[in-house]
Amino acid sequence: MKVNQLCCFVLLLMMMALCDASRLINYFNKSPLKSIKSKDGDVIDCILLSEQPALDHPLLKDHQILMTPSYHPEGLKKLFNSRNDEKSITQLWQLAGRCPQGSIPIRRGKKEDGFFSVIKSFLQKDETNREKLSAGMELISQVKSYQSVASYAMGAYYGAKAIMNVWQPQLQQPNEYSSSQLWITENSFGSNQNTIQAGWHVNPELYGDARTRFFMHWTRDNFKSTGCYNLLCSGFVQITNEIVLGGSVFPLSNFNGSQSEISILIWKDPAQDAWWLEFGNTIVGYWPGSLLTSLAHYSSLIEWGALVLNKQSDGVQTSTQMGSGHFPQEGFKRASYMRNLEVIGSSMKLRPLNYLRTIARKSNCYDITVGENADWGNYIFYGGPGRNPSCP
Ligand SMILES: *[C@@H]1O[C@H](CO)[C@@H](O)[C@H](O)[C@H]1NC(C)=O
Repeated sequence: MKVNQLCCFVLLLMMMALCDASRLINYFNKSPLKSIKSKDGDVIDCILLSEQPALDHPLLKDHQILMTPSYHPEGLKKLFNSRNDEKSITQLWQLAGRCPQGSIPIRRGKKEDGFFSVIKSFLQKDETNREKLSAGMELISQVKSYQSVASYAMGAYYGAKAIMNVWQPQLQQPNEYSSSQLWITENSFGSNQNTIQAGWHVNPELYGDARTRFFMHWTRDNFKSTGCYNLLCSGFVQITNEIVLGGSVFPLSNFNGSQSEISILIWKDPAQDAWWLEFGNTIVGYWPGSLLTSLAHYSSLIEWGALVLNKQSDGVQTSTQMGSGHFPQEGFKRASYMRNLEVIGSSMKLRPLNYLRTIARKSNCYDITVGENADWGNYIFYGGPGRNPSCP
């Protein structure tokens, strides 16, 4: 190709990007078997399992997709029983249709979301640049002030679980975010820290709206250049046709009313060298061990908690809500919680914790409490309104 032809080609691609960003995922991921238009404005493309973005990752060139874990921390019985369960609705798009067996549902990028900028470097086929851009969103949050509350456990763990109720926290401004999640990471906070996380969040910069969405994120270098949200960069291998990473959660909890819960389980399968992700009764997929370095064997730090990104000018606290926006002291049906917090130890089975530590940087703004009982095992209540008279 001559230089001027190449220029035209690039220009054409850029124009395609500007004209119709929504088609880009088709362009790069082959045509979908089916597309589903969800009421929340998302378009879900059903992409052949074998053509999924994960397999573009340089480390996964000859990767054989695993269709089932070799063990389940709640026993294989649970694994096979759950397959036949009535499928309940957990995400809004499911009301509009389902993806066929053998395909995976992927949320198509929209012009309004941060994915649009990511996709531009996609066009340049520059993997590093693409990963940097998306990791950049996380970097910003590290530099700017954010507030977090967390409970945590340190040891040698092969996974963790939580059942959490789901809310729609209000943000003061759309460049902030609010997430509730669990972290599987390591307690040495070096430059190559590995972290995998999953939970629910409201993050308009990422999606172009303020809906509550199921998300996951991973990095193997402390957010410097690898990893990103959902399937925005390659690496995570999805196997389910039922759950969309980044898809909006449905239904949500009502204040002082009905409570809506999701459960998240992440576990290491040493035989397969993979970290598996389960949402409710559905195994979503896995992070191949080859993507990770220090997390290759086990996790030394598990956290359950929440984050709020504060973009207000110096010293002013945002009124962006964490969890339900209410303090933990308000209790069940009003505050957000995570219950049956469990870890997987060397027996490879889920077990409760002996000891759960907590941290709240500014408890007058957002707080956390821990408890324990027979039904809920180890649990936390957490959250808050942010700015208020005692949190100026
Ligand atoms: C919650 O609901 C109960 C029962 O309907 C009611 O008595 C109570 O005042 C409500 N509390 C709040 C904070 O709205």
